[in-house]
Amino acid sequence: MCKNFIYLAKIDLQLGQDAYDGLLQIISEENRQRCKRFMFREDALRTLYGELMLRYMLMQHFSIRHEDIQLLKDESGKPYLKGLPVHFNISHSGDYVVCAVSEQPVGIDIERIKEVDFKLAERYFCKSEYRDLFAREEIRRLDYFFSLWTLKESYLKWLGTGMSVPLDSIAFKIGSEISMIDTCRSARPFFKQFPIDGYKLSLCSMNAGFADDIKEISLEEMKFFTQGDN
Ligand SMILES: CC(C)(COP(=O)(O)OP(=O)(O)OC[C@H]1O[C@@H](n2cnc3c(N)ncnc32)[C@H](O)[C@@H]1OP(=O)(O)O)[C@@H](O)C(=O)NCCC(=O)NCCS
Repeated sequence: MCKNFIYLAKIDLQLGQDAYDGLLQIISEENRQRCKRFMFREDALRTLYGELMLRYMLMQHFSIRHEDIQLLKDESGKPYLKGLPVHFNISHSGDYVVCAVSEQPVGIDIERIKEVDFKLAERYFCKSEYRDLFAREEIRRLDYFFSLWTLKESYLKWLGTGMSVPLDSIAFKIGSEISMIDTCRSARPFFKQFPIDGYKLSLCSMNAGFADDIKEISLEEMKFFTQGDN
């Protein structure tokens, strides 16, 4: 059976400078430098938490040692683990960071539900999705928009191709089940959505039995495991 896990953490915007500096020492040099370049601390915290969570999950569930974790990026910018048969994907939005780890490729996307200009749907959704969106009662439309958006992103992140996929070649249909047609590709992965108040979270994997629950983890737990409690 394929091992797979989803974790979620809430970022602590009040984290003190000393604690922040200490945590930066745990992560990769590349992400440390990226964190330092972010204009806003909350963006740095999202990237910091993402890597801490990944390290925690690899150490806890796959018995991989901290020093054996080396992150690389492929040509599309999708991060992967050097020399390890384990896949992961990270997403962050608003107060949350989520990380999925699996023995198979995985894509995950979380978005905070906020007011949007529905013109975006014209640009990013195909005709049938656009039609389905506007067939929804007005009160349900925003929720449906973010369902579609995160499903598409989870699929694109699973593929790892970034912006290079023509979005009108992909059509999602959300009913009692989620189905997807991609006129350019034959692989048909599975999709799952998870309820989080005020957010949408979608996951894409070839594994229909992907974890049904999300474990919430605190910064203290991640720190204790990855660094020791010092
Ligand atoms: C790169 C991209 C996948 C990031 O998505 P996002 O929603 O802005 O951000 P998320 O928080 O969900 O994901 C960010 C994480 O994805 C990972 N990531 C980066 N590039 C990736 C790629 N090509 N594939 C998969 N994962 C990627 C990284 O771990 C990153 O975290 P980090 O910046 O802390 O290292 C996205 O910008 C993109 O290219 N999307 C293309 C599709 C599109 O046009 N979507 C519009 C609506 S459907």
